[in-house]
Amino acid sequence: MSVESQIAISLHAIAAMMWVGGIFFAYRVLRPCAMNMEPNERVQLWQAVFRRFFGWVWLFISLIVVSGYWLIMQDFGGLEQTPLYLKVMSGIGWLMIVIFAWLFFGPFAKFKIRIAQYELAEAGQIMNTQMRPLIALNLMLGTLEFIIGATGGYWPI
Ligand code: HEM
Repeated sequence: MSVESQIAISLHAIAAMMWVGGIFFAYRVLRPCAMNMEPNERVQLWQAVFRRFFGWVWLFISLIVVSGYWLIMQDFGGLEQTPLYLKVMSGIGWLMIVIFAWLFFGPFAKFKIRIAQYELAEAGQIMNTQMRPLIALNLMLGTLEFIIGATGGYWPI
């Protein structure tokens, strides 16, 4: 494997780890800890968390896509020749990206408007009913991507 490919796979794995690890931390650690906070404060904490984390997520997505297709072109003989596990990985990857874009431009945009208008209860409602299921779905799909990344090279197909 060339040095360039080693750099690409490292960037790919690091960006994937930070994206999915960040979701895990927010969903499974920060969320239960923030439950005891006063509701208005809690919504404002989440606004700050989302603003910071979602900016990073756009960077992680760019790195994952560029490095992933670069590796496919360099080391796997292009899109046609690509083994099945990488087709599955890129399919699920795009699904995750669409879910994130949907979350960012849909519910999160509405969430920010509600906060700007100081309608914090409504903002909390959007977070719980519209944002949380999408975040949970991406945590599940991201975990699946790691299983594919770790085992795909050994699949018999
Ligand atoms: C969006 C399109 C994507 C493409 C084209 C792509 C492509 C690739 C390629 C070519 C490899 C190297 C496979 C090998 O050396 O056997 C790889 C590995 C991997 N990918 Fe992706 N990937 C994509 C999305 C994702 C996403 C969204 C995640 C997780 C969030 C992810 C996680 C991983 C992991 C954990 C590995 C294994 C890294 C390692 O060997 O240490 N990928 N991917």
